[in-house]
Amino acid sequence: MKITVVGAGNVGATCADVLAYREVANEIILLDIKEGFAEGKALDIWQKSPIDLYDTRTYGVTNDYSKTAGSEVVVITSGLPRKPGMTRDDLISTNAGIVSSVTEQVVKYSPDAIIIVVSNPLDVMTYAAHKTSGKSRNKVIGMAGILDTARYRAFLASELNVSPKDIQAVLMGGHGDTMVPLPRYTTVGGIPVSELLSKDKLDPIVERTKSGGGELVKLMGTSAWYAPGSAAAQMVEAIVKDQRRVFPVCISLEGEYGIDDCYLGVPVILGKNGVEKVLELDLTPDEKELLEISRTKVKEVMAVYDNLGK
Ligand code: NAI
Ligand code: 2OP
Repeated sequence: MKITVVGAGNVGATCADVLAYREVANEIILLDIKEGFAEGKALDIWQKSPIDLYDTRTYGVTNDYSKTAGSEVVVITSGLPRKPGMTRDDLISTNAGIVSSVTEQVVKYSPDAIIIVVSNPLDVMTYAAHKTSGKSRNKVIGMAGILDTARYRAFLASELNVSPKDIQAVLMGGHGDTMVPLPRYTTVGGIPVSELLSKDKLDPIVERTKSGGGELVKLMGTSAWYAPGSAAAQMVEAIVKDQRRVFPVCISLEGEYGIDDCYLGVPVILGKNGVEKVLELDLTPDEKELLEISRTKVKEVMAVYDNLGK
């Protein structure tokens, strides 16, 4: 089985590394436009195999999509990352061109592949890839919710001094400051978080989660890669092993939550067909209002993409 990761930068290489280490597939193709870059990263990951004991083969290619032919899943990470002071939306014009042209090539050589988009602005790049691909919505999806939820869970684990493994949470909406963490659906070893943390303690954690990506951009001068790369790999694994995991994933909504024709993160079941089912939660009026704010924001950026005419 073959998996392709497009973009051998920070997120793409991390994703390939995690996929190899976890032996999710027997062959991983890493592709980049920069001459020799993907070849080098793939070779480095392969040279780690005798140390970390995996036998997944990793191959790098410079822009040669014929080598990606027949991939089961393709992860698209190509594009510019944020610099300090930039929002994810500032990346739209450059990244829309990159994501659309990459999607065309991916579909040409792997017509049956499920595509996972990582490039930012995430929700609108998922839109770009979905539109370009002509595939059904369950097969072109975006990674953000697993990352945003992981940040929320990690902050909660620190605050409560418990294992992050025991924190379960749901988060919805766009991948940006209007994302909607849902404390009502957050549990710690099965216990509602509201029984362990007061609102005064929980509210700042929710706010920190919303700007979690920006916090790292400020610290590092570029955006994060360890958690994003692992999150994308976790989606690949759920698909190729048909695990039917429940994750928040970006998908085109077609009437769910009363929303049509907008790409937003919602909880789904992820399996061999990509999104097997969108799960609809019974939101409170306040939660619905926050989701509506997020929808409006994503729609604005979708309109910017439409006006680019890419
Ligand atoms: P990076 O700059 O380290 O890597 C991007 C790679 O894409 C570079 O190696 C570049 O040569 C390559 N590339 C550019 N145009 C290409 C093309 N046409 N074909 C193939 N490769 C091409 O950036 P990084 O940190 O890996 O981030 C990648 C993207 O992922 C950014 O847009 C970033 O904002 C986004 N991101 C999204 C997250 C999410 O939660 N959805 C989280 C973290 C990053
Ligand atoms: C993140 O949330 C920048 O989208 C990227 O880290």
